[in-house]
Amino acid sequence: MSTPVIDPARAEAVADQLLTELGVTLSTLTTALGVRAGLWSALADAGPLTPAELAGRTGTAEPYAREWCRTQAAAGYLRVVGDAFELPAEVAAVLGQMGPMIDAATTMLTATAARFPAFEEAFRTGRGFGWDERAPEHWRGVDAFTAAAMTPDFLPAAITAMSGVADRLAAGGSLLDVGCGFGRPTIWMAQAFPAARVVGCDFHDASIAAARKAAAAAGLADRVAFEVAPATRAPGQGHAVVVFVDSLHDLGDPVGALTRAREVLAPDGAVLLVETRAGDRVEDNLHPVGRMFYAVSTMFCTPTAVSQGGAALGTLAGPSALTAVARAAGFGTVRTVPVEAPFNLLLELRP
Ligand SMILES: C[S@@+](CC[C@H](N)C(=O)[O-])C[C@H]1O[C@@H](n2cnc3c(N)ncnc32)[C@H](O)[C@@H]1O
Repeated sequence: MSTPVIDPARAEAVADQLLTELGVTLSTLTTALGVRAGLWSALADAGPLTPAELAGRTGTAEPYAREWCRTQAAAGYLRVVGDAFELPAEVAAVLGQMGPMIDAATTMLTATAARFPAFEEAFRTGRGFGWDERAPEHWRGVDAFTAAAMTPDFLPAAITAMSGVADRLAAGGSLLDVGCGFGRPTIWMAQAFPAARVVGCDFHDASIAAARKAAAAAGLADRVAFEVAPATRAPGQGHAVVVFVDSLHDLGDPVGALTRAREVLAPDGAVLLVETRAGDRVEDNLHPVGRMFYAVSTMFCTPTAVSQGGAALGTLAGPSALTAVARAAGFGTVRTVPVEAPFNLLLELRP
């Protein structure tokens, strides 16, 4: 084999990129600390603050506030004004919107980091890493990410855009949410369709316990039930709609899960598949959002599917692969649900 010729300029650029990204990864944790300790909100509209003033307003210690300010200045988020630091209005506005998502993703990241030796062993040996092997913070982080990435009216709007489904729910039809996790989307949908009977199922008992608690807190315990069940044995019969919210690509047997969904649908019912927005080709997804979700796929979703013996669809499966899974499960009609969804791809499946 011939020795590869290394372009030194390209190699230096790669080293710069790796160093930059190491800095980004470490400083993202400080971004989340700023959300949690209220440093960003204390700086918003405050004009330039010294670290001591920031520490005083947030109840943090000055050395932490000082080094945190310097980190954010190096990241380009804070402006240095003498010995004070100022948060520009644009940064404050965007952080106000994206702070909860960064916080949630950081929770998932640190939960994986807490079990990293075991995760690394699973990655090296290919054994998979089950949902119940995760630190409990991971499950909470996933729920918080859903809360940050979706609004309560998003899934109801998608259901309303599917022909006839909202009418059936208004007439007392039932909705099944498969892989419901902590039940946040299930509860949003139940609130939007007050006549509907709603069931959420998940194979993870701790998540179902959290979902039951959330339903009781929302005053919905009489109309919303949660059951521990794997997707391939999802409960009930005659559902007007079966929904998968960011769950199909986590399953070991997505064809089996959709086959079960088809079996438990009413004759004129439909499946709503909510997946990550992606193109079919890897090249279509080589952008910042694609990068984030490929990392999510590598660390969170794919290990779950592999732990169940699956080949794993991947978080960015794309419409063609999802359509092929739907067809293999016996769905003849697959159409895109026409709703605005920057992060999601929504498909309506009918037998
Ligand atoms: C990414 S989370 C999504 C949770 C929820 N739908 C949401 O949007 O917040 C994926 C969920 O799928 C569940 N899950 C994974 N494999 C499963 C299986 N084979 N059967 C049922 N649920 C499963 C996990 O327990 C987890 O709650």
